[in-house]
Amino acid sequence: MQLQTLQDLFEHEVSDLYSAETQLVTALPKMAQAASHDELRKAFEQHLQETRDHVRRLEDIRGQIGSSMSDECEGMRRLIQEGNEFVSAVGDPVVKDAALISAAQRVEHYEIAAYGTARTLADELDLGDAKDLLDQTLDEESNADKLLTKIATGGMFKAGINQQARS
Ligand SMILES: [Fe+2]
Repeated sequence: MQLQTLQDLFEHEVSDLYSAETQLVTALPKMAQAASHDELRKAFEQHLQETRDHVRRLEDIRGQIGSSMSDECEGMRRLIQEGNEFVSAVGDPVVKDAALISAAQRVEHYEIAAYGTARTLADELDLGDAKDLLDQTLDEESNADKLLTKIATGGMFKAGINQQARS
């Protein structure tokens, strides 16, 4: 890897994110399907739509900077691998939903960190259009993370436990 300039690093970051997002486009439908809670399934489905936009924005940026670098995002591959263990797990649906949220929030925080760096580099390199696109995605990742927290703390566990107590 050549890291002579901030532009080199920016191209690498964008390429890494592109790999991460395309992996997520494949992973999110499985997470949606594995979710029991309605709101959680919808959150995954909604974030899948957003993730397709994230891929498109990165394609845009790659076009703008003339980069066709292709990195494999190993970090995201491992996070998804861990999430897949929850997807295929058997057990209490409420606990499984909690596990899916745990995996999804790890993914969101990874992305928030990466987009934070990428938008700062774009700013530093005076790539205003790229910075705006990265900011839009960063906002959507933060909102997705907050929504997952809201679902997890919004009585999901209590409702599930009550249901168990009644049966
Ligand atoms: Fe994303």
